[in-house]
Order: sequence, then C-alpha cells, then structure tokens
Amino acid sequence: MTKNSCNTKLIAGAFIVLTVSVIAGIITMIIFYKTQIGSMNPTDRPPSVTTTEQPPPDRRLPKNLVPESYKVFLKTHFYHRIIEVVNVTTPNQTTVFNGNSTVNMKCVQSTSSIYLHSRRLEVSDPVVMNRDNPNEEIRSSVVYPGEADFLEIQLNVALEAGGNYSLFLNFKGQSLEYMDGLFLSMYSEGVPEYEGDMEPARFLAATNMEPTFARTAFPCFDEPEMKAVFNITIIHRSGTKALSNAVIASETNIIDDEWEYTVFDQTPRMSTTRSIRRQHHRKYPPVLREEVWNHYSLTKLDQIALPDLNPTAMENWGLVTYQQGALLFEEGVSSLLHKESIAMIIAHELAHQWFGNLVTMKWWNEVWLNEGFANYMAYFAVDAVEPSFKMKDVSVMSDLHTAFEEDALAASHPLTVPPGEIQTPHEILSLFDSITYSKGAMVLRMLADIVGQNVFDRGVNMYLSDFKYSNTDEKNLWDNIQKAVDDDNGVINEHFLFNDSSESSLWWHVPIRFVKMSSKSDFPLMWLDDKPVTKGDFITKNGDWILANVNCAGYYRVNYNPENWDALSSQMEQDQSRIPLMNRGQLIDDAFNLARAKLVDVTLALNLTRFLRNETELIPWMSAMTNLEYFVLMFDRSEVYGPMQTYLREQVRGLYNFYRNYTDHSQVPSDHSSQHSQILAVRVACHNGLPECVTMATEMFALWMKNDTNIIHPNLRSSIYCQAVASGGKAQWDFAWNKLQSSNDTSEMEQLRAALSCSRETWLLNRYLQYTLDPEKIRFMSVWNVINLIALNPSGQALAWNFIRANWEFLSRRGGHSLIAVVARRFSTEFELEELVRFVTDNDLAYMKEEQAVEQISVNIQWVKEHQEKILQWFEMETAS
Ligand SMILES: *[C@@H]1O[C@H](CO)[C@@H](O)[C@H](O)[C@H]1NC(C)=O
Ligand SMILES: *[C@@H]1O[C@H](CO)[C@@H](O)[C@H](O)[C@H]1NC(C)=O
Ligand SMILES: *[C@@H]1O[C@H](CO)[C@@H](O)[C@H](O)[C@H]1NC(C)=O
Ligand SMILES: *[C@@H]1O[C@H](CO)[C@@H](O)[C@H](O)[C@H]1NC(C)=O
Ligand SMILES: *[C@@H]1O[C@H](CO)[C@@H](O)[C@H](O)[C@H]1NC(C)=O
Ligand SMILES: *[C@@H]1O[C@H](CO)[C@@H](O)[C@H](O)[C@H]1NC(C)=O
Ligand SMILES: *[C@@H]1O[C@H](CO)[C@@H](O)[C@H](O)[C@H]1NC(C)=O
Ligand SMILES: *[C@@H]1O[C@H](CO)[C@@H](O)[C@H](O)[C@H]1NC(C)=O
Ligand SMILES: *[C@@H]1O[C@H](CO)[C@@H](O)[C@H](O)[C@H]1NC(C)=O
Ligand SMILES: *[C@@H]1O[C@H](CO)[C@@H](O)[C@H](O)[C@H]1NC(C)=O
Ligand SMILES: [Zn+2]
Repeated sequence: MTKNSCNTKLIAGAFIVLTVSVIAGIITMIIFYKTQIGSMNPTDRPPSVTTTEQPPPDRRLPKNLVPESYKVFLKTHFYHRIIEVVNVTTPNQTTVFNGNSTVNMKCVQSTSSIYLHSRRLEVSDPVVMNRDNPNEEIRSSVVYPGEADFLEIQLNVALEAGGNYSLFLNFKGQSLEYMDGLFLSMYSEGVPEYEGDMEPARFLAATNMEPTFARTAFPCFDEPEMKAVFNITIIHRSGTKALSNAVIASETNIIDDEWEYTVFDQTPRMSTTRSIRRQHHRKYPPVLREEVWNHYSLTKLDQIALPDLNPTAMENWGLVTYQQGALLFEEGVSSLLHKESIAMIIAHELAHQWFGNLVTMKWWNEVWLNEGFANYMAYFAVDAVEPSFKMKDVSVMSDLHTAFEEDALAASHPLTVPPGEIQTPHEILSLFDSITYSKGAMVLRMLADIVGQNVFDRGVNMYLSDFKYSNTDEKNLWDNIQKAVDDDNGVINEHFLFNDSSESSLWWHVPIRFVKMSSKSDFPLMWLDDKPVTKGDFITKNGDWILANVNCAGYYRVNYNPENWDALSSQMEQDQSRIPLMNRGQLIDDAFNLARAKLVDVTLALNLTRFLRNETELIPWMSAMTNLEYFVLMFDRSEVYGPMQTYLREQVRGLYNFYRNYTDHSQVPSDHSSQHSQILAVRVACHNGLPECVTMATEMFALWMKNDTNIIHPNLRSSIYCQAVASGGKAQWDFAWNKLQSSNDTSEMEQLRAALSCSRETWLLNRYLQYTLDPEKIRFMSVWNVINLIALNPSGQALAWNFIRANWEFLSRRGGHSLIAVVARRFSTEFELEELVRFVTDNDLAYMKEEQAVEQISVNIQWVKEHQEKILQWFEMETAS
C-alpha cells in the first residue's frame, strides 16, 4: 500500500509518505453504480471497529489444510437507479451482498475441523466433499469459535492427509461505510444526468483487502502464505460494470431485466490480489523494469482512481486502486510536486506487482520485503521515465531522514519483527510504518551500493524467478544476493554481514566509504577497511577535511571531531559545491540528530545552516527545514520563535529574490530543479513572514476573490492560499471554503483543504474541526487529514487535542491512533505528558504508536529544558549582526 500522506507546513506536501499494505486483498472487485441520490443514509456510520484483542496463543490458522483454488460467486445488491418519481414507490438503497464460495484444498495433516477466516459475515450451508471419492458422506456444521475472525467447520469424520477436499459455503454480509473489505462509495459527476434537478449521486463498490479484510468479503484462508488461484464471478445490476484482478472472460451475461453477471479468468496463484492491460503495458516498460523483475504475469493492469480509499493506494494484482488525488493530474491545476508524488506512488504500486503480488513474504512480520522493495524500486522506475525529477536524490534523502528519525526512538523495531509478536490485525497494521517503508528501502540501497548495482539486480532477478507465485523470508533474499555476489567472483562478500536471525546482537557491520580533501588535491574514494588506508589518512590540518558516507549510500550516521566539523562548515560557507549535494543535506541532518542525542553541541548544527544563504539546491534546504521543524514544534509558542523567524527570513531572502520576477508574475522557471527551488523559496519566505512574500500572496489571492479568475500558478498555490488564509479573516476563509465545495479537481481540493487549516482565528479553526463530523462537509476519508493539518498549526493544536478527546468514539475508528501521535508532536511539558498518559490509559490505548508518542514527549521535555536558552542566544546573535 501507499501510506497516508502527512503534510507539514514547512516542507508542505512535497513528499507523500508511502504507507500501506502489501498483500492486499486477494480479489479485487470494483463495481460502478449509477444512481440518483438515494436514501443511503450517510450519517449512519457503523459502530467502532476497535478490534477485540484476543489473548495469545496463536491467532494463526492451523496448517493442516492448504487451499489450492477458489470459485467465488458474489452478488452485490445496491441499486443502479433509484428514481424518485412521486407516484412510484422506490426501494431504498441497500448495502447487502451475498454469494457462495467453493474452496478446493489439500489435506496435509488429518483433522476433523476446518478453520478459516470470516468476519462480519453470516455463513451457512457448509458442504464438504472428498474430491477423490465423491460418494463419501461428510456431514458438517458451522461453529464460530469465539475468536472474532475464525470460522470452524466441524466434521463427523476426519479428513485424511494427502486427500483432496472441497468446502462450499453460502455467505451474506453488508458493505460498511468505512473503507475495509467490500465497501460502498458515493460520488458525483460534473455533468448532470437529467435536467432540472441536482447532480445525481453515483455509487460504486470497491474492495480493500490488505492486510486482513478479505475475510470480510467472503470466507477464506486469509494469510499471505495461503496462496491459491481464484475464479471470480460477480453478479451485479444491469447497466453497471465489474472489474477484477483477472481479465473478463465473459461480460454482460443477462440474467433478467435487473441482473447480469461478469465472469473473470482464473487468476494466477496469489495471496489475495491481480491485473495489467496490454496497451497500458507498452507505455510502462521503463517503469516496469522487466529486465530486472521478469515479465509481468497478467495480461492487464488497470489503474483506478476512487473517490474513497484508505490507504492512499492499493496494489491489487492487475487492478491498482488509488485515491483520486494520488492518481489524477490536471495540467494547469496540479502542481509540480503533485506530479512527482503521483509518479512515485504509481511506481511504488507497480513495483508491488512483483514485490508483494508475485513474490510475497511468508508472514506480516517481514512486510518490509514488500514495502521496502516497492519504495526502493520506485526511485529507479521514476528516474527512468522522468530523469529531470531527480527522484533518486530527492526521495532517497526523504526516506533516509524519515527512517533515521523513527529509528532513533527506543520504541522503534527491527525490520524483521519476531513472527510471534505480530498476530492480531492491529499488530499487523502497526507494522506499516516508516521503518518498514523507508528503512527497508535504505537497507536495500546500501546493499546495492556494496555489492554493486549489477550484482544486486541479478540477485533480485534470481530471487523473483525462484520464488514467483510463492512466499519468502529475508533469508531467501540474502541467499540470492550472495549467490549473485559469488558468481561475480566473490571479492566483496566479506564486507557484507547481515544478521539473519532477528534475536542476534545489535551490532551491525557496515562498510564505510569516505573522501579526504586537502588544499592540494582530492584523494580518491576509499573503503575504511581497504589496504591503502593508514592512520595518517585520518589526520587533517589547515582546513583539510574528511567526508564519510559519500553520497549517503550507507544507512548510518557520521560524527567527526570538532576540527573536522569546523573545516566542513567553513568549506560550505566558502564554496559548498566541493561537498557533494546529498552530503550537504546529510551533514545537516547528521549534525542536528547528533545534537538531539547530545553527541555534539546544538550550535554546531545551527552553524551548519549558515551556508544556506548561498544555497539554491533543494536537498540541503529540505534537510535543514525538516530538522528545524523540530525547533518550530518545540518553540513556536515561545520567545525563541521571533529571532528564529528573523534568521530564516534572512537566509531565504536571497533565494526568494532570485525567483522573485517569476513569482510576482505568477510564472515558473522552465527547468525542473529551479521550479523546486522556487516553490521552496516561496514556502519558507511566506511561512516566516518575509514581507515581499506576504504581500505577493495577499494580493494574488485578493485578485482571485475580486474577479473570480485564478491566475496563481499551480506550483505556488498551496503556499499562497495558506498565506492568504493565515493573514486573512472570515472573507478569505469562506471564499476558500466555497471554492473547495464547488471544486471537482482533487489537487485543487487538497490545496484548499490544507489552506483552510492555516487560519489564525480560533473560531474559524474550531468551526472547521466541527465540519469533520459532518460527512456532507468533509468526506470520511479526509477527516484524519483535516484534523492533522489543524493540529500542525500552532493556533490549532490545542483545539485539535480537545476535539480529539471529545470525539474519540467517532475518531478512533479510522486513523485515530495516528492522530494522537501527530497532535502530541508539540507536547513538551510535564502537564501535556500527563494529559496524554491519562488519555491513553483511560482509553486503553497502549499500542506502539502511543508508546512512541509518550517516549517522544519525555525526550522533548528534557530537550527544551536543556537547549532553549542556548538556542535563543544563538538566533539572537545571528540576527543582531
Ligand atoms: C406516474 O406518473 C407519470 C407521470 O408523472 C405517469 O405517466 C405514470 O403513468 C404514473 N405511473 C403510475 C404507476 O401511476
Ligand atoms: C425507505 O427509508 C425510509 C426512511 O429510512 C422509510 O421510511 C421507508 O419506509 C423506506 N422505504 C422502503 C420502501 O423501504
Ligand atoms: C452459487 O451462486 C451462484 C450465483 O448465484 C449460483 O448460480 C450457484 O448455483 C450457487 N451454487 C450453489 C452450489 O448453490
Ligand atoms: C489428490 O490430488 C492429487 C493431484 O491432483 C493426486 O496426485 C492425489 O493422488 C490425490 N489424492 C488422493 C488421496 O487421491
Ligand atoms: C469540473 O468543473 C468545471 C467547472 O467548474 C467544469 O467545466 C468541468 O467540466 C468539470 N469537470 C468534470 C470532470 O466534472
Ligand atoms: C477456473 O476457471 C478456469 C478457466 O478460466 C477453469 O479451467 C478452472 O477449472 C476453473 N476452476 C474452478 C475451481 O472452477
Ligand atoms: C556566498 O558565496 C560567495 C561566493 O560565491 C561568498 O563570497 C560569500 O561569502 C558567500 N556568502 C555566504 C553567506 O556564505
Ligand atoms: C558556531 O559558530 C560560532 C561563530 O562562528 C563559533 O564561535 C562557535 O564555536 C561555533 N560552534 C561550534 C559548536 O562549533
Ligand atoms: C521579469 O519578467 C518579465 C515578464 O515575465 C520580463 O518581461 C522581464 O524581462 C523580467 N525581468 C527581468 C529582470 O528578468
Ligand atoms: C481578472 O483579472 C485577470 C488578471 O488581472 C485578468 O487577466 C482577467 O481578464 C480578469 N477577468 C475578468 C473576468 O475580469
Ligand atoms: Zn506499498
């Protein structure tokens, strides 16, 4: 999956964080409905899904039966049309679905019960057959063994090891409104279907199966290793269309006036997903990297934008689904950053067709094999199609920093978690985090750097072909990389020592590469343990310096002695181009984080931001802004903030003026990387109150309000809207709100939704929070995002925290846990810590995310106490001169 995106003000939305699940649903079905606004009652949200946590032991299926194929008939009942003609009684909309499934399975160990997964389904009429001896009579009955997710079929005889059996079941369920399993979604189209009435609403049904929701659509063996082939038939209302993982075998089979059915080809062997269409296929060859990944298994790959979906995107095999905003780009409306994130998300989902769908991890504890690979491969895929995006640099930097940040907490976890710790649906979902996505990708990148890209690609290629249609653990990957290394004569394999047992020591052997620079000449790149390095190589004098982790290929941080830091810092102030671009970003990131860990003085890190005054490249700025964001969170309600903003204004002024002529004319430079820098300049300048920026934003927005023509360039809209709403009042807010209501473009809507959270008026922010409770105002899917955005605004943070507590019942259902982590980011006092702990205790929320939040606050309290005075002095001194 692709993670939910979380925009921050400073680096606003430049990067969508990829999160989600790997093996999503087995089978994906999408059915489009058209209907006039019916009586599907939108406020009637289903009861809380808080999982009833079962105590251990094992929540896993016994492995005595192995599914081989399924035949599933699924009938969705909602109406194609509900015409409210006065004199006709029309039926109300319905969310019911029903069907039957037959699973053929092999018995590997004798048993007289069949366990499989089923949740929120009414299951009946079990028929168990011995396929080797159809005359054998087997009587069976359905039992729900208390565990919410299991279904037990008890038999009067024992099934025999080696035998082939089938199980038939009828089932019935309801599509609920939260976006799990088979769900309904309503949308409207621009063109009214008939005259004289409001725009008709249309309905569609879609599925989201990852990680544990397939069991809510039909009874199945819902574990990643239980791969099988699927034959799907969907029965749907006439005039609608159904899609699934595989291609359509036969369509428009009329049953009667009201019903037709669509039969799909058999899928390949898979966990729960699939589909690519040939003509699309041709467009993607560079993205699909078939030379490395092997051929795509299916004959089609549909990509569908949905009005509702959580996560951002889901990689169903052959039928990838996206939130509209994650897929749809409109020239002239969507910004450059949006285009980049769309490219990255698509590439991520396409990579999953191999990493996740074709080859799947054995169990969720190693879900990084899916997500780490998908993130990692996306850099190459996008780079192949749009080299000007420089995604290999930009995204790598962002993944690297994200991973480091989360990894620095004691509540972090290893990439591969012991399987016993990942049992419940909640535990499984909690693994879809930055460690899994970003650190997973960084570890792969480091590995590729050490063994060499060609060797790595060959190893991955073997891994994919050895394990296609089946399951792996990380050892399978290491073995294949090692094999590729050995084929390549084995020179470097001793450098690489990956612990394959997760319990083993915390020591990690990493190869270190560095460069030394003297006034005379540059030394070549060196490996730390290569022969030519002697102790003398580490001695520097007269402003010479050593730089380690060149191009940040390694997943580790570097600290230097004070003299070397000083030399690096001076070098950057004099001529930063002698330090490779990525390292300019990394030096800042390392210094700030070492300062957080008290390994260097915080002023050393701040000193390293001085050169930004001359820096026009994105990566160092991005790195500095990300790190200073922590300062912003800790200090934006304190006296430090004034001098800090003054300093940042001065740093960014040159960059802002460099692009000013473009900005003032609402134009953008032609090359990609200058566009990036311009976006950053406007964002940082406006956010820190650079007067020329504030004036520009206010005037442009006023112009739009005045004659209803929006001339603001899409790249600059999010900053300008935000600034205009922040420095404006009710008129600006209402104008933006009305534009949001009437817009039908997802990027525009996203920008407006974010801008509305920038207000400094508490009453406006409060009203906005209240709107999240009304699905006619804020879609369910966006509730999380809106509260999140408000919490990031210093004027909205306390409001959001109160709001979350007051409405926990409602919010806990979706994203509630992530919300707490976000709202608590600014907490830095004992009082705030107590409040959070009380809330966590009262609501029984002792999960990983909450633990991390609590740990983070203790860190914050300590940090503020120790650093506030010194930081204040530093900013005052810098801005005095
Ligand atoms: C319903 O009303 C329409 C006109 O409004 C009429 O043509 C039709 O015959 C009526 N149907 C019934 C069942 O009364
Ligand atoms: C439709 O729903 C409304 C209100 O929910 C109810 O009063 C009415 O009886 C329903 N009509 C049918 C045909 O079920
Ligand atoms: C399963 O459902 C399909 C479609 O409704 C139906 O045609 C078929 O007879 C059902 N199978 C059994 C064994 O009842
Ligand atoms: C089960 O099916 C497999 C192949 O489909 C066959 O080889 C095997 O003999 C069957 N088992 C029994 C007990 O007949
Ligand atoms: C979106 O809205 C604009 C006017 O606001 C309209 O011209 C356009 O056709 C709409 N597009 C769609 C796809 O509905
Ligand atoms: C599934 O469909 C394929 C044809 O696409 C057919 O050969 C196969 O027998 C079917 N399997 C089941 C279990 O019905
Ligand atoms: C900016 O760079 C110029 C040379 O390119 C240098 O003279 C100047 O000192 C630098 N300024 C800062 C603040 O680093
Ligand atoms: C930061 O820069 C100032 C001024 O150049 C210097 O006095 C101070 O020692 C530096 N701090 C560190 C920790 O290097
Ligand atoms: C500023 O932009 C305008 C219009 O885009 C252009 O005509 C003018 O030459 C530019 N001025 C400079 C100094 O680049
Ligand atoms: C609105 O203002 C813009 C920019 O000044 C101008 O190009 C446009 O023609 C105006 N539109 C109307 C309807 O007046
Ligand atoms: Zn993913």
